[in-house]
Amino acid sequence: MDVHRRRAKITGVGAYVPPFVLTNKDLEQMVDTSDEWITTRTGIKERRIMTQPNTASSDLGAEAVKQLLHKTQTDPNEIDLVICATATPDMLFPDTANVIRDKVGIRSGFGFEISAACSGFLYALETGAKFVESGLKKVIVVGADKMSSIVDYTDRTTCILFGDAAGAVLLEPSDDDTGIIDSVLESDGMGRNYLYQKGGGSYHPATHETVENREHFIYQEGRTVFKFAVNGMVQSIKKLMQRHHLSKDDIQWVVPHQANMRIIQSISNMFEFPLERIMVNIHKYGNTTTATIPLCLWEWENQLKKGDALILTAFGGGFTWGSIYLRWSYDPPATEQASPPDVE
Ligand code: COA
Repeated sequence: MDVHRRRAKITGVGAYVPPFVLTNKDLEQMVDTSDEWITTRTGIKERRIMTQPNTASSDLGAEAVKQLLHKTQTDPNEIDLVICATATPDMLFPDTANVIRDKVGIRSGFGFEISAACSGFLYALETGAKFVESGLKKVIVVGADKMSSIVDYTDRTTCILFGDAAGAVLLEPSDDDTGIIDSVLESDGMGRNYLYQKGGGSYHPATHETVENREHFIYQEGRTVFKFAVNGMVQSIKKLMQRHHLSKDDIQWVVPHQANMRIIQSISNMFEFPLERIMVNIHKYGNTTTATIPLCLWEWENQLKKGDALILTAFGGGFTWGSIYLRWSYDPPATEQASPPDVE
């Protein structure tokens, strides 16, 4: 690694979760499942759902970005770039980043969308960091997903897993040794057979038949995905730790994608990271796809100290997976700016 390279650092975090709570008990009324099964197999107790009509992922993302701009006292017109990671774009085109920019009132710079399913935030963070490394001053990276728009609430194998949320971070150039240090990002297209939304793209454009066949919803072969997910996250963490000669004690926080508590537990066991140093909020929000990692950073912002070493790790459809190693760049903000435990 070139130590003289200009580095990007995270200088603020915003997030938004919609107020409506869908509990495991509610799901018991909708499909053949139980609170006990969902809790023991996934760790999820409840998730948030965007219930207001005529809203989309961009509305979740716009709320997170507005909070981020407010907390960091940033003028929207200082922003050079907005990258939005999402698996549930408002429309196939135009991209969701530009809808967010419009809703927030960002008129400067440019924006684009990244599609890498649950690894989308990591791909977008790495991409945003590269833009900062090559000269941009203020880049916003958003993960926003209205998963309820593609969840089949008659399919008990998937409807228990997902929730709606958004999270956003501001990236700026670092003038010290904190910031985004390195990443391992990988993908394998054979994974498309195990986790997908078949209908609505150029492969299966919408027809009465695709709707009848429920092709506009998520399909997942959970057991297969589970194995690849554990392996992908563990291997990418290992690569980063070896490359930077890190032991488990050199890392203050692990920030895993929140897909299944058992996957998180496996990572904890594999590296002997104590659970107290792993950010976990899956019980409250479920799997919010691209939003899980910034949502964790937002909730733990008050406990993060300048210089803390963090490993972010994710796995998603594609398959896509990877990990990012960074050093946190600021001490907890003053109470007035601190993240509330929940946004109503
Ligand atoms: N309630 C009750 N029973 C359920 C159920 C539910 N909501 N969903 C599935 N089951 C049943 C299945 O029908 C199956 O029954 P059978 O043995 O009679 O066939 C049994 O529970 C076990 O199903 P299985 O799919 O093997 O469960 P699992 O332990 O693998 O858990 C997931 C399912 C989806 C929670 C888990 O596989 C998972 O988390 N996978 C990875 C998700 C992920 O990381 N995705 C990538 C990012 S999005």
